[in-house]
Amino acid sequence: MFTKQTIRDIDVTNKKILLRADYNVPVEDGRITDDYRIQKSLPTVKYLLDHGAALIICSHLGRPEGVDKKFSLKPVAEPLSHMLKEPVEFAADCVGPEATQVATGLSPGQVLLLENLRFHAEEQADDDGFAKQLADLTGPDGIFVQDGFGVVHRAHASTVAVTKHLPAVAGFLLETEVDTITEAMEHPAKPLLALVGGAKIADKIDVLKRFIDIADTIAIGGAMANTFLAAQGIAVGQSLYDKDQLDQANQIVSAAGKKGTDFIIPSDGVVAHEMKASAKTRVVRFQSDSLKSNDNILDIGPDSAKKIADLVKAAKSVIWNGTMGVTEIKEFAAGTDTVIKALTTDPKPRTLVGGGDTAGYLENRHIVDKFAFVSTGGGASLDLMSGRPLPGVEALRSK
Ligand code: 3PG
Ligand code: MG
Repeated sequence: MFTKQTIRDIDVTNKKILLRADYNVPVEDGRITDDYRIQKSLPTVKYLLDHGAALIICSHLGRPEGVDKKFSLKPVAEPLSHMLKEPVEFAADCVGPEATQVATGLSPGQVLLLENLRFHAEEQADDDGFAKQLADLTGPDGIFVQDGFGVVHRAHASTVAVTKHLPAVAGFLLETEVDTITEAMEHPAKPLLALVGGAKIADKIDVLKRFIDIADTIAIGGAMANTFLAAQGIAVGQSLYDKDQLDQANQIVSAAGKKGTDFIIPSDGVVAHEMKASAKTRVVRFQSDSLKSNDNILDIGPDSAKKIADLVKAAKSVIWNGTMGVTEIKEFAAGTDTVIKALTTDPKPRTLVGGGDTAGYLENRHIVDKFAFVSTGGGASLDLMSGRPLPGVEALRSK
C-alpha cells in the first residue's frame, strides 16, 4: 500500500540520520503537558538506534516569529531521553557551529535534538540553502528520514527542500498513519459513520464531499453545525458561523441527499451568552424554541448527542474529526462526552480519530488507548482524508 521507501529499505548502520519528527507538543511553564507525539515517534527512533545509526532529530514547535524561547524544543529532550533510557544532547540552534560540532562528534547509537526549526524563517519558506545546512549536519553518506506525519501537509525546508540533498525515506509512524487512514477511507467496515465537528466548515468541505461518497451517515457537530443551521434559516443568535459558506452548506446537504447518504444536523444545542466556565446555560430545540440575539450555541444538545450515540451503536466503523462543542470548557463538553461514551463502550465500532483538537481532548482525558487509532496529525490527517496530496510524502523516494 505505502508506495514510498521506508527505513526498512535502506542500510542505516553507521550512518548519521537527519530525522524529522513532529514534536509540536503542548508546553506550559517549560514542561510538556502531553507526550503522545513523542511516544508515537519511539518505534522509529529505537529501530534506527538499534541498527547502529546516529540520530540528529529536528522538529518545529508552535508558530514562533523568529527566536522565541517560549517555543524552545528543549523541554522535549528530557522526556525523550527518559523514554529511550539514553542521553539526548541538545543544540540551541538547529544549524550553525554548535549543531555542526555536536553532530560531527556523534557516534552510532547517540541522539542529538536540534532547537526549533521555525526559529529560522527559511524553514517555512522551504529554503534550499537552509535545507542544505540541515542536510550537511549528517556528513558524508547521510540519510533523511521523515517521520513527522503531523507536518507532511506543509511544503517546508525540513519536509521538501531537504529531500533534494539526502536520500529521503519514511519512518514507521508516517507509514502507519498513511496506511491506516487510507485503508479506513478506501475500505471501511460498513456501515460507516463519519462524525465531523470543529469550528470552520471551509476546512472541511473537501472531506465532507469524500464522506458523502463513502459513508452511510454523516453527523455534524461543533460550530460548523451552526453554518448548516443558519443555511436552513434557523436564527443562530451570536453563534460563530461562516456567513459566506451558506450556499456551500446547502449544496453539501443536497449532494448527500442525491447520493443517499444520511446527513444529520443537530436538532438541539446548549447555549449561553458567554463562552466561559460556569456560564448560565440552557438547552434549545431548534424546531420549537428560538435563540435570543445574544445566545451562542456552544455544544450539541442532549437529543442530538443521544441520536449520534445511537448511530455509533449501529456503525461498524467511525471516522471522527472535530469535537461536538467547546470541550475546553467543561460546561460545553457533555455532547462530545456522550459520543465518546458510545464510541468506547462495548460493543463498539472501530474508530479512527483525526488528530488536532479531537485527539488533544482524548489525550487530556487519558483515553486515547480506548480508540482503534488516534492520528498524531491534525491538518495532515484532514488533508489525507480529503484526498489532497501531502508534499512531505510525495518528496520521498518511491519503492
Ligand atoms: C500540527 O500540530 O498541526 C502540526 O505540528 C503542524 O503545525 P502547523 O499547523 O503549525 O504547521
Ligand atoms: Mg495545525
